Amino acid sequence: MTGQIPDQLPPEPQPRCVWVCQHQSCQRQGSEQVLAAFMGADLPEGVTIIPSGCLGQCSTGPTVRITPDEIWYYRIQPSDVPVIVEQHLKQGTPVQHKLNPRIHLSFVIGH
Ligand code: FES
Repeated sequence: MTGQIPDQLPPEPQPRCVWVCQHQSCQRQGSEQVLAAFMGADLPEGVTIIPSGCLGQCSTGPTVRITPDEIWYYRIQPSDVPVIVEQHLKQGTPVQHKLNPRIHLSFVIGH
């Protein structure tokens, strides 16, 4: 129906954020270096890196969560960062082998 005003406007596009846990368990596993690697990476425009408190996945840290995609990565090391930046943040394809299996269940079933 031409000219009809929709009930709801489409949501504003949300900026992409990379949350890097800096709480105790993740820090013991090297999350400070992971954060530094993201900060120093050649990021696409509009991506924000956020040092975060505990993300509730302490036993599989360092934990990285990407919003609004709601992709959770586990056991991230600095060497994983260039892959996540290139494949996920630039090309839009999550890095399958680093998906947290407790959250992304299809990963467990499929492999
Ligand atoms: S300490 Fe990082 S998820 Fe809990």
